[in-house]
Amino acid sequence: MAVEPKEYTKLAAEIMAVRAKKETPLAMVRTYGCQQNVSDGEKIKGMLQQMGFGFTEDQEEADFILFNTCAIREHAEDRIFGNVGALKYLKRRNPSLIIALCGCMMEQEHVVERIRKSYPFVSLVFGTHSLSSFPQLVYETLTGAKRVFQRGGEDTIDENIPVRRDGRFKAWLPVMYGCDNFCSYCVVPYVRGRERSREPEAVLKEARQLIEGGYKDITLLGQNVNSYGKNLPEPVNFAKLLKEISDMEGDYWLRFMTSHPKDCTKELIDVMASSGHIAKHLHLPFQSGNNRVLKEMNRRYTREQYLEIIRYAREKMPGLSITSDVIVGFPGETYEEFQDTLSLIREVGFTALYTFIFSPRKGTPAAGMSDPVSHKEKTRWFAELLKVQEEISVRRCASMVGKTVRGLVEEEASKPGVLNARTEENVTVEIPGGPEMIGSFRNILVTDAGNWVLKGNCI
Ligand code: SAH
Ligand code: SF4
Ligand code: F3S
Repeated sequence: MAVEPKEYTKLAAEIMAVRAKKETPLAMVRTYGCQQNVSDGEKIKGMLQQMGFGFTEDQEEADFILFNTCAIREHAEDRIFGNVGALKYLKRRNPSLIIALCGCMMEQEHVVERIRKSYPFVSLVFGTHSLSSFPQLVYETLTGAKRVFQRGGEDTIDENIPVRRDGRFKAWLPVMYGCDNFCSYCVVPYVRGRERSREPEAVLKEARQLIEGGYKDITLLGQNVNSYGKNLPEPVNFAKLLKEISDMEGDYWLRFMTSHPKDCTKELIDVMASSGHIAKHLHLPFQSGNNRVLKEMNRRYTREQYLEIIRYAREKMPGLSITSDVIVGFPGETYEEFQDTLSLIREVGFTALYTFIFSPRKGTPAAGMSDPVSHKEKTRWFAELLKVQEEISVRRCASMVGKTVRGLVEEEASKPGVLNARTEENVTVEIPGGPEMIGSFRNILVTDAGNWVLKGNCI
């Protein structure tokens, strides 16, 4: 019997309800990795909702468990394998449970082979390229005799996938997918495919819906967000897209990530500086402060070019908050070269740093490079780096005391009667208050500073 694609959603829902012996079967979706994956997870939940699923955070009561995986570092993969292994007993106890895996790890052949051989209780495996076929793949899993494996496929964009957003006032808005940069250490171009951008009309429509829907903190997403538009039939650049969105009326902040220094134009910085809607926060990964290492990483900018962008951005926006990513112990990096990374950190004075020890990824050029420095030694360098950044953060936080900042109240803190608000600069401020304040902007007087977090009172 031939089944129309749109029918899969309905059929899968009916079969699943019978299988779980529930009118509303429950799904648990757990997402690992970056915001791009979180955004994909929201689409998966959108499709599950359309299929009639309810949701649970408790794997004990779930009828369908899906892990949306990340392959960026070995540690991330090991943790996921461990967590998948821990699901075995659930499947034994409840054979009608469906366990599925998707996301970046599932685009790697060696990972899929390992799941096939060693994790027989996993029934469905699909990669980032198969997102829009999800209802059909669920249908095949429920009706076929075999486990379903789907890896690879076309680098396309499907604009018709429903989204079930995790937040009521914070939203992710993907504008482009994939990456063409092939930094020599990175697995992303292999698991997410070539760069492709959404049509500006589709992005603008979604942005308008979000603003009208009361969203207050909207982040435009892409692995290399500022190369947006390059492959569109009518090329548009990211600065123009950002400008058009930020011209929309409303009370909201607009953010974007992740920018690549080689595509960070003065035009983009000028747009940032000229709009009250764009948060004065730039996440701009530098990875290393040494030119030889940057070249080996295939980053395509120099230390001097990076610092020039920062200089220009600070000239236009004196209070600009800058955060970054950095890798310690790239193959062949010497201690002297690592010192260039420390000096760059001191020179820029980042608000926060996301720090990583190099992790070899199968199939990337860096995985085959000679790597004479021991992991133990790299761990020592890493600790040295953390100490440098901590001193900068402490000083930065202390300098905020006595100032008034605008913060978006995000959640209840772990202490009773305390809320966490986030400033435009992406710094957390603890304030006294009740849950009714969540989701609103407040003016806050900063009264106290810790190492990373501020304290204050609403005024
Ligand atoms: N597209 C973004 C994010 C990439 S992944 C960007 O270009 O910045 C997030 C960060 O993980 C990277 O910036 C890098 O610092 C780190 N990373 C990526 N691959 C890594 C690897 N093999 N080992 C250690 N860190 C890695
Ligand atoms: Fe990876 Fe580089 Fe692409 Fe970022 S820009 S996703 S680090 S290849
Ligand atoms: Fe991980 Fe894939 Fe993001 S590898 S960091 S989830 S693009």
